[in-house]
Amino acid sequence: MSIESVLHENRVFPPSEAFKAAARISGIEAYRALCAEAEADYGGFWGRQARELIDWHKPFTRTLDESNAPFFKWFEDGELNVSYNCLDRHLATRGDKTAIIFEGDRGDVTKVSYRELHARVCRFANALKAQGVVKGDRVVIYLPMSIEAVVAMQACARIGAIHSVVFGGFSSKSLNERIVDAGAVLVITSDGQFRGGKAMPLKPAVDEALTLGGTGSVRAVIVYKRTDAGAEMQAGRDIWWHEAEAGQPEQCDPVFSSAEHPLFILYTSGSTGKPKGVQHSSGGYLLGTLASLNWVFDLNEQDVFWCTADVGWITGHSYVAYGPLAAGATQVVFEGVPTYPDAGRFWRMIQDHKVSIFYTAPTAIRSLIKAGGDLPKSYDLSSLRLLGSVGEPINPEAWIWYYNVVGGARCPIVDTWWQTETGSHMISPLPGAVDLKPGSCTFPLPGIMADIVDEVGGDVELGKGGFLVIKRPFPSQVRTLWGDPERFKSAYFPPELKGYYLAGDSANRDPDGYFWIMGRIDDVLNVSGHRLGTMEIESALVANPLVAEAAVVGKPHDIKGEAVVAFVVLKGARAEGEEARKTAAALREWVGQQIGPIAKPDEIRFGENLPKTRSGKIMRRLLRALAKGEEITQDVSTLENPAILEQLKEAVK
Ligand code: WTA
Repeated sequence: MSIESVLHENRVFPPSEAFKAAARISGIEAYRALCAEAEADYGGFWGRQARELIDWHKPFTRTLDESNAPFFKWFEDGELNVSYNCLDRHLATRGDKTAIIFEGDRGDVTKVSYRELHARVCRFANALKAQGVVKGDRVVIYLPMSIEAVVAMQACARIGAIHSVVFGGFSSKSLNERIVDAGAVLVITSDGQFRGGKAMPLKPAVDEALTLGGTGSVRAVIVYKRTDAGAEMQAGRDIWWHEAEAGQPEQCDPVFSSAEHPLFILYTSGSTGKPKGVQHSSGGYLLGTLASLNWVFDLNEQDVFWCTADVGWITGHSYVAYGPLAAGATQVVFEGVPTYPDAGRFWRMIQDHKVSIFYTAPTAIRSLIKAGGDLPKSYDLSSLRLLGSVGEPINPEAWIWYYNVVGGARCPIVDTWWQTETGSHMISPLPGAVDLKPGSCTFPLPGIMADIVDEVGGDVELGKGGFLVIKRPFPSQVRTLWGDPERFKSAYFPPELKGYYLAGDSANRDPDGYFWIMGRIDDVLNVSGHRLGTMEIESALVANPLVAEAAVVGKPHDIKGEAVVAFVVLKGARAEGEEARKTAAALREWVGQQIGPIAKPDEIRFGENLPKTRSGKIMRRLLRALAKGEEITQDVSTLENPAILEQLKEAVK
């Protein structure tokens, strides 16, 4: 297979000498030395990392067991507790250090130290035990961003219960499916949450999910009181958080388990069918988050770390609830949205909390450019020293804005490629070592054998695209799909790929060996025999000064195989009538100039926004259906703004 790469980006941004000098991994040779160590002795390399970064209750004697591939086991005879590693081990040296700076939607700020967080986790873990929760039980957590969400996750980890966090924006139907699939014994929720200045109820969705059937395993619902909305409490089943933990002691011995004990299940969408219950381990998962915090975020004792992701997603697991705590960091946790009370919210918070490492998603960056591109200049962002991006390819235009306007041309940007299934970063610059190219996630982390192959697992030349794979098992990878090991094997380890982990993304490497992610495999278009990554056309569109955001999908075409359909959000008002025609023609010309005539969109549709999940992912399947003119049959309950679907039905004629 050859996927043509047509995006040309030649700018290179080396780290400043000052950043490089202070970095944990300083200079490209230091990075290469780590990679060489992993190449030479793979087990030895990860074994050393695991011994250095994790406190083991019982040391492991075997690093990697590959005998039952692809059900790999890491450090299996070692015993640890993840919550112990996140809390107890810091008490002697960092007990009074701030663990979490929580800022609510309305601007209320609460700080907790490691000692306080430890006490709160212990108390809540005891409350869970009092409800009969034991090691191995599944607990569904359906909470807004809050200290309580972190406490709930850590409390489960402490007693060996397996949590499954369901993002608060999911509908009761999705919640029901996840509760049923996981066989949860307990649900933790809140009466409501504050978002964008409004109090929104949450508990009613749980009540409804529990009437939809199949939820007989659920014995209790714990309800954290966040708003004044109140909640209907079902006697014998529902209990308030504060009542559940009243009188519980602030000590709770951690339950030490094998490194392979499941820490959590997190549901993620597959290309078809029901969501996949991605099951993660304890030891390997923790190791991946810790190693990446060192290497990619270059985390130091005095840093203030802020990852804006919700705990309902993997990023909020690895880089909010677990990684930063295991590393003993101070971090910001934010309840609200980036545009309330205005589009300066993030920048104001960076200023007030003196954030030094800021990690967010390209979609947030693009929407903030649209809502107020100059706003960062009104705030003092001098505390920042490193920026990060995750979730989708960041188009070079957004990258440059992020770099110059937010980072003051001073902060490296780590564009981190990874997935729910990989648990932690896989491909990303190490900021003191690697020269950056906007839009490229650069090189694999040490010990991550990422590569690009053809459909039979063969090598592809530099410059040619192919499937992104990881050739050797790595500590933080998905262990199985909950209750569906067959689907696990077929989705990630197709037989023709020689046992490599198939990420489901296409990618290419440029002549310097830099990785460029081109999009999901099913986002690759075939136009007149040319394979084009949709992301490259999107990047070209967004590079036009008129365009704020764009998504491109394919639609069947008699002659070309596939036609390119572009959904475009303009920086100003949505274009209509004659103006829409002129703008569309200009954009087609533009894409023709940027990439080549082959990539010119056949159709352009203007909307005030794109359909996105609450986590900010563009709903491409929905766009594909719109492009084909199909009726929308899929669940649109997680859509931020369903009204825009009408606008996107009409192509500019
Ligand atoms: C995409 C989020 C390009 C990719 C951590 C991947 C990215 C999917 C990047 C996983 C990036 C994530 N550059 N694409 N830096 N990061 N992706 O499971 O398609 O929500 O397969 O995990 O997001 O999304 P998930």
